[in-house]
Amino acid sequence: MIFGKRMVEIYHDMLEEYVHAGDTAIDATAGNGYDTEFLCRLVGDTGCVHAFDIQVQAIENTQARLEAAGLLERVRLHQTSHELMDMYISEGVAAFCFNLGYLPECSSGVITRASTTAAALEKALNALKIGGMGCVLCYYGHAGGAEELEIVDELLKSLPAKKYEVFRLENHNRAHQPPILYLIKRLR
Ligand SMILES: C[S@@+](CC[C@H](N)C(=O)[O-])C[C@H]1O[C@@H](n2cnc3c(N)ncnc32)[C@H](O)[C@@H]1O
Repeated sequence: MIFGKRMVEIYHDMLEEYVHAGDTAIDATAGNGYDTEFLCRLVGDTGCVHAFDIQVQAIENTQARLEAAGLLERVRLHQTSHELMDMYISEGVAAFCFNLGYLPECSSGVITRASTTAAALEKALNALKIGGMGCVLCYYGHAGGAEELEIVDELLKSLPAKKYEVFRLENHNRAHQPPILYLIKRLR
């Protein structure tokens, strides 16, 4: 059921179905660590989450959140740009998530960018194991957001339908450019 839920809740519900104890997962945009924490709970004691962010503030916020939750052992925090994820991840991952845009309540002006997002998304798609799922939440109201949305949309639309199933979800009658959610499953 998706009615009455925020996009984040919708993709968390999906992740719950696809990520299990012992799995490896990727949070490509750690931010304040909400998604990282959620994934850490799903992978359990024997799993691992790789979380990326280019901002020190985001890595520190995520680390503090996980420490407070007693989940730090389950995460590898990488303060680097997400298109370098293949330097750290070799095994097939059960899931990935991208929550694009800027860190809430942060004045640094750092936002995700079309070219690096596209490069990272291609790497995450390649890392996904068969049966695994990915999600990309696109906010596009800010400067550069529309360009990023376009490149993400084109990339996902062009994926071979026999290999990946892709859904695009948006709240069609909400004002102020509500975010668009892509859900991806690797079929083979
Ligand atoms: C919308 S926030 C993510 C929110 C996060 N998922 C959460 O649960 O709090 C987007 C994040 O992407 C990060 N970011 C921007 N460019 C990046 C890049 N090239 N690689 C990794 N992270 C990046 C920003 O620093 C920001 O923290």
